[in-house]
Amino acid sequence: MDNADNLRGDLICAIAAAESTNALEAVRVSALGKKGTITKLMKTLGSMDPDERKLEGQEINALKAEVCIAIDERKVALEGAELDARLMAEQVDISLPVRPRSKGCVHPISQVIEEMTVIFCEMGFTVAEGPDIEEDWYNFTALNIPPEHPARQEHDTFYLPGKKNGDRKVLRTHTSPVQIHTMQEKEPPIRIIVPGRTYRCDYDATHSPMFHQVEGLVIDENTHMGHLKGCLIEFCRAMFQVDDLPVRFRPSYFPFTEPSAEVDIGCTRADGEFRIGHGDDWLEILGCGMVNPKVLENCGIDSTKYQGFAFGMGVERIAMLKYGIPDLRTFFESDLRWLKHYGFSALDVPGMVGGVNR
Ligand code: PHE
Repeated sequence: MDNADNLRGDLICAIAAAESTNALEAVRVSALGKKGTITKLMKTLGSMDPDERKLEGQEINALKAEVCIAIDERKVALEGAELDARLMAEQVDISLPVRPRSKGCVHPISQVIEEMTVIFCEMGFTVAEGPDIEEDWYNFTALNIPPEHPARQEHDTFYLPGKKNGDRKVLRTHTSPVQIHTMQEKEPPIRIIVPGRTYRCDYDATHSPMFHQVEGLVIDENTHMGHLKGCLIEFCRAMFQVDDLPVRFRPSYFPFTEPSAEVDIGCTRADGEFRIGHGDDWLEILGCGMVNPKVLENCGIDSTKYQGFAFGMGVERIAMLKYGIPDLRTFFESDLRWLKHYGFSALDVPGMVGGVNR
């Protein structure tokens, strides 16, 4: 039985010497695998006579059992050691100083557009977009502003080089041309808002040649002025977070809506302090109206079947009011100190719960 004894000694040594679970597995295969030493020893039993086989068989089985137990024990020890080593290596030094706060922050324009989007999307609107460079027809004519219409002068349009009038492209003076694109492309019911850049040749503390608007358009069979009022009153109250904010609709004129109105919200200017809410004063924040049937027809929509409302507002103006930013030009000066002061954390995602209601 020398063979088995020698083997036992060798294997026990090899198992003890295995420094890793991989090395131990190699030892196991060398003993118990298909061509392993113990397996080979088992195979010699076949050529023995019965008595010898009985004796040798017991011996080899005992050896096998002993080696299996030794391997299992060593395995548990090695796995424990390997886990300890990994935990040590992956240890986090909680005494290290925190990483410096990320320097970037969200520009108030992006924040306010995001806040408006959240409010209107809650009401069932989806977001649409259109090009900054527009054909004259989309920016004016289709919106019932024919050439020579005085409203064209009011818009201080930037024209791109090109042929005279009608054919010249323009930098869109409002987001309203996206109403036209949408009505041409989609069948009612339509319920969209359009945030985007707009351009007018004007520059002072309350005007910038590039500014932002959010447009809204609702078209279906039964939408009426009551829906327009409900929608915009709700929007103003959610946007400025004043539940009973006074909202006033003042008759106005836009060629693309009829009737048209401008919306004012209540405010006070007592003691040099400006405050939004109940008060003796009003502040205009947006334009709106029922879509002019001529505009619907210009887009191929049957104005005897469909009707709806539209609105448009300046994002900078609302951002200035909501966050107390005094000069519109500062929005576009890219002054990092300004941005740090008025900007928002990238993690402060606006929502109807939290976020917007900071
Ligand atoms: N486009 C108008 C403007 O720029 C705003 C507006 C949009 C008014 C939609 C009524 C309806 O002043």
